[in-house]
Amino acid sequence: MSGVLHLARPEIVALAPYSPARWDPALVRLHANENPWRGAADRTRAGLNRYPEPQSSLLIDRLAALYGVAPEQVLVGRGSDEGIDLLVRTFCRAGQDQVLICPPTFAMYRFAAAVQGAGVIEVPLRREDGFALDAGAVLAACTPATRLVFLCSPNNPTGNQLDRQAVRRIVEGLAGRALVVIDEAYVEFSSAGSLAPWLARYGHLAILRTLSKAYGLAGARCGAVLAAPEVTGLLRRVIPPYAVSAQTIEAATDALAGDGVEACRDQVRRLVEERGRVAARLASVPLVSKVWPSEANFLLVESPDPGRLLEAGIAAGLLVRDVRGQAGLSGCLRVTIGSPDQNERLLAALEAA
Ligand SMILES: Cc1ncc(COP(=O)(O)O)c(C=O)c1O
Repeated sequence: MSGVLHLARPEIVALAPYSPARWDPALVRLHANENPWRGAADRTRAGLNRYPEPQSSLLIDRLAALYGVAPEQVLVGRGSDEGIDLLVRTFCRAGQDQVLICPPTFAMYRFAAAVQGAGVIEVPLRREDGFALDAGAVLAACTPATRLVFLCSPNNPTGNQLDRQAVRRIVEGLAGRALVVIDEAYVEFSSAGSLAPWLARYGHLAILRTLSKAYGLAGARCGAVLAAPEVTGLLRRVIPPYAVSAQTIEAATDALAGDGVEACRDQVRRLVEERGRVAARLASVPLVSKVWPSEANFLLVESPDPGRLLEAGIAAGLLVRDVRGQAGLSGCLRVTIGSPDQNERLLAALEAA
């Protein structure tokens, strides 16, 4: 295990943690300037008149069990978007440090870096090789100012799983040099499992997970950073104490209780099946020249006239994502797998375009 504290912003390492109002449900709360009465429309169990438990222990325990890690290795936040933002703010000094990204990829890594004033190094995925990760190029591009290396697997918007050997080469090559962040927002839809077991071996690894995709809770905003306690401890200093709302805590803990996890897995199985069916049909649409293989809940589609496909979708009341503006994605659209009925409507519209 290699430490990471020397990679974090020194002022965050030195920061005395904010001390929120003591959490002790057995005692009456006259210490947090809350209203003693619930609102008339409040349907929560906890009562929205009360601040939620910071880093709810029940939610952390359920996420730790779901992801197969220890509770100290879990930081819960408002989606993995917040995890990305916290990592950048904790590890990158404005005007000095950099993140490394492998485009085309999820846009929030670059966005969070821009907000923080961190530099961005780009090492493109190799489109000619199925958007493969170039481990040698990533290692060569890292500088002493590189603090975070974001790898997204399965990658958004290309849909492919990154090669494990290439990821391992990067992780091993960067021990003591940078924190490697693997975004697994779509891993539930892939044939390969999570890399969370690698956390036992690599202290400079962080994994992003979310309940927004497979667990159907995008509106609740709940995601996790899985990492060594040294890393989650730093992020806990930076995240606002009451970031995760009482409604989110209840929605997420409920979703992970009883047979909730099995029900989600069942939905994932149906979406994966639907992904195969939609991919096959799309491949025969006259205006579609290529459907990239996908390990996620979306398909990257290439067309000689993507504008016409977009318009046909909108005319049928359906939105697909225009990703043509991203480097390396000329002629491409990203189609999310919907319900069978929604997919059928889209396919009919595109076939008629
Ligand atoms: C790769 C990737 N990471 C993270 C996120 C953010 O997810 P969340 O809803 O957990 O903030 C998304 C959302 O689309 C994504 O595609």
